[in-house]
Amino acid sequence: MGKWGDEVYVMKVGIDRISFYTPAYYLPLDTLAEVRGAEADKFHIGLGQDTMAVPAPDQDIVTLAANAGLPLVEAAGRERIGWVLFATESGVDQSKAAALPCRGLLGLPETCRCVELKEACYGGTAAVRLAEAIVRADPKERVLVLAADVARYDLGSPGEPTQGAGAVAMLVAAEPGILSLDAARGVHTEDIMDFWRPNYREEALAEGRYSTRMYLATLGEAYARYRAAGGAAVRELDRLCFHMPFTKIARKGYSKLAKGDAGVEPSEEEMSGKLDAGTAYNRKTGNTYAACVWEGLVSLLDTDGEDLGGKRVGFFSYGSGCMAEFFSGTVEKGYRGRLFAEAHRAMLEGRTALTYRQYEDIFQYGVPKDGGDHVFAPYRSGAFRLAGVSGHKRKYEAAGE
Ligand code: CAA
Repeated sequence: MGKWGDEVYVMKVGIDRISFYTPAYYLPLDTLAEVRGAEADKFHIGLGQDTMAVPAPDQDIVTLAANAGLPLVEAAGRERIGWVLFATESGVDQSKAAALPCRGLLGLPETCRCVELKEACYGGTAAVRLAEAIVRADPKERVLVLAADVARYDLGSPGEPTQGAGAVAMLVAAEPGILSLDAARGVHTEDIMDFWRPNYREEALAEGRYSTRMYLATLGEAYARYRAAGGAAVRELDRLCFHMPFTKIARKGYSKLAKGDAGVEPSEEEMSGKLDAGTAYNRKTGNTYAACVWEGLVSLLDTDGEDLGGKRVGFFSYGSGCMAEFFSGTVEKGYRGRLFAEAHRAMLEGRTALTYRQYEDIFQYGVPKDGGDHVFAPYRSGAFRLAGVSGHKRKYEAAGE
């Protein structure tokens, strides 16, 4: 039984299936360090990042998300999916929701409501919260949440080594098979300019160190409210998944909360046990913005050596601008049989390393804006690709990979 506001409820709601996709190309941060004249340890140790995913020229958030969603809908079935909620801050259209082409590519019913949501990296969590409310209102509903982003900063800027790309697909349902959302949650919001991207820019702008300070400050506020709502102390949480603009911030966040509770710094061993499985994928993909904290959950469930059935996972979701939420969930027994762990492992191990020149060429490549007919060369882009643009319309197709 859980308590949510003044409501007492008995029905479990949460994640029934979860799947992840990242591009087949990456730049090793050793390569970037060499070209930028930086120490590689700054990236590996200081930021906690090893490689960054680079989307191919025939990929965008629609194809990233559809690639994440395909194994999920094939395993879970398409019936009774009444909503597709798409969270992103890399939208490809100011008007039309990216959920609409995804519905078609994934073969979902015409009765789906398709919507796009935005609040920086908090968008994926906002979509899960809305999905939860939809399912609580009607437990027969199943909601497909897609979170996908391409993290881009100016070449040579401090944010460059934290770039990345990826997507997570989640099916939110009653009596879920993977993770039930706990009742306790703590939210904090402020109107600040720590990271933003005006509509006329392809690359984000960031007050990097201020944004990191705000991340940690709002973590403290959200956690205090989660505790006041009856949530567990951070050391009682079996594992934690943080929003990870870079994975080192998860250690900073855990350390802040653990020290704040008990006055004692956590040991490296304690932090590794709580955090490392959940940071493994993000070290390889870089920041995936709206998908990031949920990619952390996929990484945790796929790679933790222990059976986590019955264990409690804490989450911190942060979106610049800013929205912060601390919450927790309980892993369902038997969850391992519902994962796509082997496919995720093969995808990450099968990626192709780019040279610096290839990375910069792809970075500079932009979808043509002249309204003409353009056909894009095929890359290793998974099951779906952006085939071209014509008359300012994006054309998607099954790639058959
Ligand atoms: N060996 C080991 N560590 C080293 C090192 C070396 N040779 N050289 C430097 N370091 C360490 C530094 O000591 C520092 O560690 P601490 O923070 O623990 O002191 C770390 O490496 C980073 O060094 P700098 O602070 O000098 O790095 P920077 O200023 O060049 O860039 C950044 C860091 C500001 C986060 C930058 O990457 C950035 O602007 N990123 C984009 C914004 C961002 O990610 N903000 C995070 C919060 S906002 C958010 O969460 C939303 C979102 O997704 C964007």
